[in-house]
Amino acid sequence: MIKRFFSSTTEIPQAAAVPRHVAIIMDGNGRWAKKRLLPRVAGHAQGVERVRDMVQACIERGVEYLTLFAFSSENWRRPEDEVSRLMELFVMALEREVGKMHRNGVCLKVVGDLSRFDQRLRDLITQGEQKTASNTRLTLTVCANYGGRWDILNAANNWLRDNPGGELSEDALAPYLSMPYAPEPDLFIRTGGEQRISNFLLWQLAYSELYFTETLWPDFDAKALDLAIASYQKRERRFGRTSEQLLER
Ligand code: IPE
Ligand code: IPE
Ligand code: MG
Repeated sequence: MIKRFFSSTTEIPQAAAVPRHVAIIMDGNGRWAKKRLLPRVAGHAQGVERVRDMVQACIERGVEYLTLFAFSSENWRRPEDEVSRLMELFVMALEREVGKMHRNGVCLKVVGDLSRFDQRLRDLITQGEQKTASNTRLTLTVCANYGGRWDILNAANNWLRDNPGGELSEDALAPYLSMPYAPEPDLFIRTGGEQRISNFLLWQLAYSELYFTETLWPDFDAKALDLAIASYQKRERRFGRTSEQLLER
């Protein structure tokens, strides 16, 4: 049975000092490598190392859900060689890291249209998810071949299949989206300097606090995470209300 979480548009969610759910666009790997006259894939390899550190840092800070954008539905447009190196890295990371994650109490989820991945990668994903399914310390969601528009359309289509002729509502759609097991992200971080969403979690980011940093993903460490959390802690999350109303509570 999946827990039901508040929808930021139909109810007012609880906001805690430490963000319960952090979602990150891990951008800037290519530029990190270029600065060092290395091939782009070296930046991606370094980026994988940061994922491991970020999981640990989030556990230590009491973050319960960490969601990482690893490969977008538009990243297939990249040169074939880079795409296949990224897939190899994904396979290697799963082979190497799942055991450690399990020992650390991490529950792994991979969301996106996985049908385009080869069988070996899909098997590793299934095995990793099954092995870690009962862990509760941190839920790590990796978004792979993910697109926010795909997520919404996929949910709507699946809902329609179950409810032919029905009328869709926000609460009805929520369980069909790709992360029904997680509350909406409190804090969204994009590294690498770009200030855009790039088709990441379009539905779920409705009321997330947005944080953009010039730091390239392979340089994003626990200290950089603390800066993001400090910025988050200064925000007033009003969810449509006035500041005065918040003081009254
Ligand atoms: C993000 O880094 C990783 C993926 C999209 C897979 P980039 O590869 O986009 O790095 P930049 O933006 O070119 O520096
Ligand atoms: C977003 O980064 C996707 C991931 C980090 C996986 P991109 O580098 O693909 O985004 P754009 O093309 O600069 O918007
Ligand atoms: Mg990029």
